Amino acid sequence: MPTLSIDGKKVTAPEGSTILEAARIIGVEIPTLCHHDGLEPWGGCRLCVVDLWQPGWDEDWFKLVTSCNHPTADGMRVFTKSPRVLETRGVILDLLLARCPDAPLIQKLAAGYGIEETSYAPREEPDDCILCALCTRVCDHLDIAAISTVNRGAGKEVAPPFHEAPPDCIGCLACAEICPTNCIPYETSNFRRSIWGKDFEMLRDPATGQAVITKAQAEFFAERNGVPGSYFETSDTTKRREMAKQFVSLQNLE
Ligand code: SF4
Ligand code: SF4
Ligand code: FES
Repeated sequence: MPTLSIDGKKVTAPEGSTILEAARIIGVEIPTLCHHDGLEPWGGCRLCVVDLWQPGWDEDWFKLVTSCNHPTADGMRVFTKSPRVLETRGVILDLLLARCPDAPLIQKLAAGYGIEETSYAPREEPDDCILCALCTRVCDHLDIAAISTVNRGAGKEVAPPFHEAPPDCIGCLACAEICPTNCIPYETSNFRRSIWGKDFEMLRDPATGQAVITKAQAEFFAERNGVPGSYFETSDTTKRREMAKQFVSLQNLE
């Protein structure tokens, strides 16, 4: 297991862990935007940059690396708040503020680096999408890939193919729930759900009448996991209640 120092504190990290994971072990906070523990690291937003020195390098030679996807190694020295780390994060947040001036998360992070207003030309038609690709990556992770990043430059955005209701989308909301700026709109009622311009029928728990998941999602997971579709018709609460009833009746038999 590699032993390294982060901001002067020694840490022995599990084999294969990243600098970000090692930092968390000793309570050193590194800001992230495109990282999620449940997904493969991507290294896209670069907000998690740190200064790195490795054995064998000149004593005064440091390299900026993204901590979310850089592996740890024995003898490394990492600095998470060096002047150029803070400056780099400031530039990234300044640019993000120009892209998404109304996103509270970006406003808050930028304020932490002393930036109240962007020094770049603000985008003409701003939205809150920071292009972190968490939504497309979680959808890919589910083996669905209903949405993707399209266009280039200022016109780059996340969208379904041809901007039409994505045929493969199952309405699971994973993309909307993982979005750090909450900018993927959707609506859910007891009967219907709509997201990405697609409308879904909701399955309702027969015991409570409450919406559980979409019919398309239930069919997808039933097929993938080889379980009957009816398994998804009941909510977790109802499943627990049914199980408790069964335990009670078994106890009464003893
Ligand atoms: S709601 Fe649709 S687009 Fe979003 S993650 Fe689920 S399948 Fe993918
Ligand atoms: S929609 Fe949300 S999750 Fe997707 S890229 Fe934009 S900010 Fe990230
Ligand atoms: S969190 Fe590491 S590059 Fe985005």
